[in-house]
Amino acid sequence: MKFFIDTANLDEIRKAKSLGIVDGVTTNPTLLSREAGDPMEVLKAICSEISGPVSAEVVSLDEEGIVREGRELAKIANNIVIKIPITEDGLRAVRRLEAEGIHTNVTLVFSPMQALLAAKAGATYISAFVGRLDDVSHVGMDTVRLASQIYDTYGFDTQIIVASIRNPLHVLDAALAGADIATIPYKVITQLVQHPLTEIGIQRFLEDWKKVEARKKK
Ligand code: G3P
Repeated sequence: MKFFIDTANLDEIRKAKSLGIVDGVTTNPTLLSREAGDPMEVLKAICSEISGPVSAEVVSLDEEGIVREGRELAKIANNIVIKIPITEDGLRAVRRLEAEGIHTNVTLVFSPMQALLAAKAGATYISAFVGRLDDVSHVGMDTVRLASQIYDTYGFDTQIIVASIRNPLHVLDAALAGADIATIPYKVITQLVQHPLTEIGIQRFLEDWKKVEARKKK
């Protein structure tokens, strides 16, 4: 399973990249709104930092607007992927942009049927929002599990991104559910590294090593 980082913050992207685990980046209008400066410049900087796919979302809702915005965003860099919310206009725009060789990421996917429609429209990726489903007492990961089963049955190449990840268990469950990619906030990436027994283990090794050092001095 690939790891994308779900942020538009360059510092977080650089720190995660230094760990050697970042295969791509996902942004959205909310994440970009938190960063200073022109969003197009922010996206350009992200694309020069990361060679993998970088998702940039359209804000137009009509087919022509989505296609126009998608073409503009695609000019930023070769690794830009156009993120499009799943709507009827969105699906039409996905087909047109993919036909032009522009990769798309169909976002705000909450049901397996939306995932199937996006795949039939030719999307390169879908983003299934598990955290927001959990928030309303649905099991978010069920959508991922069922979409993965459907894609396998019918041989769709569309890759499943598990998005709206809130904790390390979401990442584990994404892997078990057969997701291709988990897009993870920086905070959760750091949580994945940590384990209390690792901390205790390091302290114990260091304390025991002090005994060896003290013996050498005798
Ligand atoms: O990639 C989508 C993600 O940013 C949404 O996360 O926590 O706002 O549901 P959240």
